Amino acid sequence: MASVTLIYGTTLGSTGEVAELIARELGDVDVRDVSGVKPEDFLAADLLILGTPTWDDGDLQQDWVSFLPKLDGIDLTGRKVALFGLGNASSFPGQFANGLRKLHQKVVERGAEVIGFWPVDGYTFHASEAVVDGRFCGLVIDQENDPAKTPERVGAWVAQIRQEAGLA
Ligand SMILES: Cc1cc2nc3c(=O)[nH]c(=O)nc-3n(C[C@H](O)[C@H](O)[C@H](O)COP(=O)(O)O)c2cc1C
Repeated sequence: MASVTLIYGTTLGSTGEVAELIARELGDVDVRDVSGVKPEDFLAADLLILGTPTWDDGDLQQDWVSFLPKLDGIDLTGRKVALFGLGNASSFPGQFANGLRKLHQKVVERGAEVIGFWPVDGYTFHASEAVVDGRFCGLVIDQENDPAKTPERVGAWVAQIRQEAGLA
């Protein structure tokens, strides 16, 4: 079985809860809070999953803001990375889940192949930097407005990344 590391940042706890749901669905996953990781931890597994909520003015969660420059020393060439992001579409419809795109930009810059793109259908928002070529660049979860949809979204996305990463 291929190894999986999931690294997330959270301020109020929701992204940690979604991280645990994803890990439970996938099975054997090393789940870490980004406030306690080292850059080498990004290279430990066959599949890397990264998650962030959007905070402030469409930005990454604070621990990711602090950590991200350290990724400049890490080569992710040829590595598969799946991303997920939390946001609130009704309070922030013009910058919904923008933080996800910042993770996307950084890992692509470091050479990663991003898997797990996700349809925008079923979400109501005006604009999101996380939309790349008509799809979100990772799973988007809205725990404030759509919590009932979370288990189904996580289940479908995990099945998708399993297949895209060849873990099935
Ligand atoms: C001050 C503040 C700013 C936020 N800014 C955004 C935003 O720009 N876009 C968005 O989609 N969600 C935004 N959110 C919603 C959070 O992403 C959402 O509450 C998320 O579930 C928090 O995750 P956490 O509990 O893991 O910290 C914001 C929330 C707060 C409290």
